Amino acid sequence: MICLCLSSKTLEENRVCAERNRGFASILELRADCLESEELKKLHLFPQMVGMPVILTFRRVQDGGRYSLSEAKRREILLSALEGSYAYIDIEDDIKKSPVENKARERNIRIIRSFHDFEGVPNDLSQRLRRAYERGDIAKAAVTPHSLMDVITIFRASKDIPEKKKIILGMGSYGLCTRILYRKLGSLLTFTSDEELAPGQISARDMKSIYRADEVDENTHIYAIVGNPVMHSSSPLIHNPGFRRINYNAIYLPIPAENIGEFFALSEYLRIRGFSVTVPFKKDVLSYLGNITREVKQIGSCNTVKRVPGMWKGINTDYYGFLAPIEKDILSGRIKNALVIGAGGASMAVVWGLRNMGVKVVILNRTTSRAEELARVNICHYDKLSNMHSYEGRCDLVVQTTSVGLDRADENPIEGFRFTGKEIAYDIIYKPKMTKFLRDAEKMGCSLRFGRDMLLEQGKLQFEAFTGYHYPKDLNPDI
Ligand code: ATR
Repeated sequence: MICLCLSSKTLEENRVCAERNRGFASILELRADCLESEELKKLHLFPQMVGMPVILTFRRVQDGGRYSLSEAKRREILLSALEGSYAYIDIEDDIKKSPVENKARERNIRIIRSFHDFEGVPNDLSQRLRRAYERGDIAKAAVTPHSLMDVITIFRASKDIPEKKKIILGMGSYGLCTRILYRKLGSLLTFTSDEELAPGQISARDMKSIYRADEVDENTHIYAIVGNPVMHSSSPLIHNPGFRRINYNAIYLPIPAENIGEFFALSEYLRIRGFSVTVPFKKDVLSYLGNITREVKQIGSCNTVKRVPGMWKGINTDYYGFLAPIEKDILSGRIKNALVIGAGGASMAVVWGLRNMGVKVVILNRTTSRAEELARVNICHYDKLSNMHSYEGRCDLVVQTTSVGLDRADENPIEGFRFTGKEIAYDIIYKPKMTKFLRDAEKMGCSLRFGRDMLLEQGKLQFEAFTGYHYPKDLNPDI
């Protein structure tokens, strides 16, 4: 089940929120501790107001909630609320047998026995879960992983408790995969919100419509994108709809990692079938691969890894994705000379791709030594960024590969560069779509190429590597 957590101040606001998410969530959690005190008198009416199964939760401050008054008062409010037809009630695992528990059992309201750890993953996670389960309740643990090794610990600890008799989740960005893969953990449900509120949280809409988390079963193949940061990657929007369209039982999710080693450990544990690699791991990943393509070897970076018998195979689809939007211009002779701005990780595939198509390249970079190294490997020219004016009017293509302009629309690494208007300007940044670099070029009449198209093209080829099928032609992902 996908559970929508309701934390508004009034029951009516919560009802409206539940209505907005109907079709995405199949159960609600009412956080009574977030309600105004006047609303608490009407708690028993809420399940009828929404006509969906509801979990009643009245969270104390020490468990991450807002309730700070006496335990007696809380008990009184809960007892009166239980007159309503709640499906579940959440009771913390340190609460001794109480009238609330008795009343819940009398009224066939299932008990979720919960505990929270906002600091880490406790050593006794398995034991605490088992104790809650042995009381005949659904055992719930919300803990805070600080690494992917902690995530493995969470998966291991969950193994002891039968399926759907538990709700186990990791909070924060490392915990994201425990929420999306809740069915692989055997959890009864996963919590979502109306909107993404904090790292690791996902909206009910995305959980249902992008990830289809509630359809995951033991045969679902897992794919991922690893990076840091990676939470707002658009790749899930490319792959998940593609899987759905070809009826392939698979899921693709973002997994942030501190280092690539821990990600490989998790990949082995979860039997991940393949993954995309993004900043900063495109080089680090190489030493874990048993087989690489010629392009990976020559470019020196890898963005796609796939499980093959006995090993991991590395592929590079970035260079292809980059070339796709300009291939015709190269083949027709419109592009013969290119100026590549930047000599970081992202420009390696760009320069290699251009050189492989016979385009002459000059690399301009702020730090000359990096440009020099890249130029040496790819047999091309380089210069320092501050000499950019010497290249005005001497190139058919200007490619922007630096991180300048990423997530902001007001910075251009070649501010003041005088385009003649005949150049093609290509920014490999895809968020925002229209960078300052592209706007400046457009003003001078240049033709533009977008990072979004590069992202999509590299993703399509990656999809082919993962599934063995072409990306559906009529699918245009909303990235
Ligand atoms: P990535 O792997 O995403 O390419 P990177 O390896 O850190 O990231 O490279 C970022 C690129 O953006 C580099 O070419 C960097 O120039 P330096 O090699 O001189 O660091 C370039 N870059 C970053 N900030 C810049 C800035 N403010 N002005 C110009 N270039 C910049």
